Amino acid sequence: KRIVIFASGSGSNAENIISFFREKPEVAVVAVLTNKSSAKVLERCDRLGVPAFYFNKPAFKDSDAVVNILQGLNADLIVLAGFLWKIPSNLINAFPNKIINIHPALLPKYGGKGMYGERVHQAIKENKETETGITIHYVNENYDEGAIIFQAKTTVEPSDDAEVIAQKVHQLEYEHFPKVIEKVLS
Ligand code: GRF
Repeated sequence: KRIVIFASGSGSNAENIISFFREKPEVAVVAVLTNKSSAKVLERCDRLGVPAFYFNKPAFKDSDAVVNILQGLNADLIVLAGFLWKIPSNLINAFPNKIINIHPALLPKYGGKGMYGERVHQAIKENKETETGITIHYVNENYDEGAIIFQAKTTVEPSDDAEVIAQKVHQLEYEHFPKVIEKVLS
């Protein structure tokens, strides 16, 4: 089975997923795609020996260039791991029920356009939530709205700042995301 990861930022989840499947004979991350030429995920791909492709907005939104790359790669599953653009319908239609995303909160709360990274954890803190977590879901045309596949929770203490909450959520991501991907592929 062939996984393609989309990432816009640091790529710690991408690295975790690549490493997890390195030991599994049937599944491999065949490429990482990014919309940011400066994304740290590209350094991780160099170090890990995983092909990486950069695309700009017109290529992504107004052409089939990215769809063609994915079909050329024979992708069985597209995994969004810190990818910040909405997925255009040509990509959704080319890979029905084959695009999944991880969101660092318990959707449907704290989701939608603009709710990403530290902003999510800041909002959790400001609203004095006592728990937060991760949501892994299928991707449709709208931000963070597809069918939910998996959720995991962690407690939030009053003394936790956004950084501490982010660390707790990252731990859940690293623990669960690869295993959920494996299950989706089986
Ligand atoms: C993660 O918190 C993920 O839930 C969200 O974006 C962040 C990506 O972090 N979608 P990284 O780039 O994998 O380190």
